[in-house]
Amino acid sequence: ATITVLNGPNLNLLGLREPNHYGNKTLADIQTLLENQAQHLQHKLSFYQRNAEHELVELIHQAYFEKTDFIIINPAAFTHTSIALRDALSATKIPFIEVHLSNVYAREPFRKQSYFSDIAQGVICGLGATGYELALLAAHQILAERH
Ligand code: DQA
Repeated sequence: ATITVLNGPNLNLLGLREPNHYGNKTLADIQTLLENQAQHLQHKLSFYQRNAEHELVELIHQAYFEKTDFIIINPAAFTHTSIALRDALSATKIPFIEVHLSNVYAREPFRKQSYFSDIAQGVICGLGATGYELALLAAHQILAERH
């Protein structure tokens, strides 16, 4: 199957950025982990990071037109603000898992609100890069059950 991984703003700074919250792995490290896992599970993986909301909206539309089967998304700060990204996922009906590296429930109160969780297949947070790997494994199982 085809799986798209989308990463929101500031995630290009992983490794440098507040390692107490986000760990020491860079986004390139996470990309390598997932590409290896996807190859092993025989999926085609596309991996993106964008700082701009409209570019993420366009990537969701692109995923739809390319008939992408599943999305794994860490919307980063847009989690707590973006009706536009939520609407793009609702409009395209691409099933998705929401991932956060940090435990958003153990931080500032504004991080407890998500525009994605109620329409996600599932939500993973607080497990660092492992959360992305678990999301890919879950996507694999969800897709396998459908066929
Ligand atoms: C994040 C959590 C968000 O609250 C924050 O704005 C991020 C990263 C995470 O992966 O833990 O940028 O999505």
